[in-house]
Amino acid sequence: MLKKTIFKSFWFWLLVLLIAIQAFSLNVKATLPIKESEELQVPKEVLSILKRSCYDCHSSQVKAPWYYNVAPVSWFTQLHVKNARKIVNFSKWNNYSKEKQLKILKKLPKSIVIRMPMSTYLSMHKEATLSHDDKKRLNAWAKELKEKLK
Ligand code: HEC
Repeated sequence: MLKKTIFKSFWFWLLVLLIAIQAFSLNVKATLPIKESEELQVPKEVLSILKRSCYDCHSSQVKAPWYYNVAPVSWFTQLHVKNARKIVNFSKWNNYSKEKQLKILKKLPKSIVIRMPMSTYLSMHKEATLSHDDKKRLNAWAKELKEKLK
């Protein structure tokens, strides 16, 4: 009998805790206002790779799953989006200085080999995995744009 009450109260307090932590949000919006003039202009096939594999963190058009706003998962997902946007938000590409654009393009080939998209994200979004061809296309695009900007 006593055991049963303790068991019950554990779930009760867990629920209270889960509700309480919802008050603590990083408040990183999934979508932000977009200006067409600021958006990255790239060939369609490159854009579709970026949209599929990178835009859920590096853009103002994050496709938020249901848990995006549910703590404690939201703390991690929103922090990823916040940090990713700090590095590059492709929806604001044209706002960046040439130096910043070059810096990003220089980092891109290594990042897609070693760690992008993030593995924790890929475990939930298999469709975002970059194929060998996707990587080749992204690298070729980055190289071409780098040459143009220099
Ligand atoms: C799940 C979120 C997420 C996705 C999806 C994602 N990134 Fe990132 N990316 C991050 C975060 C967070 C950082 C910054 C923190 C870090 O370096 O771990 C980052 C950093 C980077 C950097 C800088 C790396 C460095 O060495 O400083 C580049 C370049 C990059 N991402 C490119 C991409 C590209 C290209 C894609 C798509 C193929 C992509 N990312 C997909 C979250 C993401």
